[in-house]
Amino acid sequence: MIIIAVANQKGGVGKTTTAINMATAMAATGWKTLLIDLDPQGNASTGLGIANDAREMSSYDLLVDQAELSACTLPTDIPGLDIVPATQDLSGAEVELVAIKDRTNRLAACLANRPENSFSHYDICFIDCPPSLSLLTLNALCAADTLLVPLQCEFFALEGLSQLLQTVERVQERFNPDLGIVGIALTMFDRRNRLTDQVADDVRDCLGALVFENVIPRNVRLSEAPSHGMPALIYDHNCTGSRAYIGLARELIERLPDRRKAA
Ligand SMILES: Nc1ncnc2c1ncn2[C@@H]1O[C@H](COP(=O)(O)OP(=O)(O)O)[C@@H](O)[C@H]1O
Ligand SMILES: [Mg+2]
Repeated sequence: MIIIAVANQKGGVGKTTTAINMATAMAATGWKTLLIDLDPQGNASTGLGIANDAREMSSYDLLVDQAELSACTLPTDIPGLDIVPATQDLSGAEVELVAIKDRTNRLAACLANRPENSFSHYDICFIDCPPSLSLLTLNALCAADTLLVPLQCEFFALEGLSQLLQTVERVQERFNPDLGIVGIALTMFDRRNRLTDQVADDVRDCLGALVFENVIPRNVRLSEAPSHGMPALIYDHNCTGSRAYIGLARELIERLPDRRKAA
């Protein structure tokens, strides 16, 4: 079982879209999958059709009350995909955790492979991070085995990335020495725009093989799907965006050790 944080402190770069569709693709491939929504906006929860009043227990309870994982998970309409939803409460978690010792390890502690929380039941877990390098994101980075970074092909992309990589280094030094980066996914790629092409080339020059071959195009179907409460992969599995995410999932699987048997 492997834990992947989907993180980038910039908002609107495709974290949630990537988390939802990668989790769906992995579940469709037969991996028992958990998605943890760690953004107070709860977009991943909404995008998977989880109504607000169904979110009785949430990632807030995991972090603040150290609730049992199994009490906070809900099934989704996708076979093999469960979710820990997020609620607005989560925006207060930061303040509530400030006085607590070991506050960066709250999520890691909940996900630690204890038999009673049945986490070992999952093959893979994605954590959809909020758009900040806050305590919430730090909790994700401390709990994760590895990081998947969605990067929007725009002018300041590389600058934002270096800030994220510095944070990763600090987390490796202080809390989670084994934290890896499984890859950087270029998102919202627009073939007709020369600048995105240029940015994609620069990112590849700079980061080489860390960048996934599969690039996620700008595709209106990807942005329509959440309002129907379903992943694009279900809403329109044949659109260019869905096909790109299927390719990305295939590439991700190649990069992952097969932890399923080891769980
Ligand atoms: N490849 C894409 N093509 C078109 N729209 C996209 C694409 N990826 C994401 N979006 C849309 O852009 C907005 C921001 O994406 P989102 O995944 O929520 O980013 P983040 O979680 O990083 O804030 C959303 O409205 C989403 O539907
Ligand atoms: Mg998001």
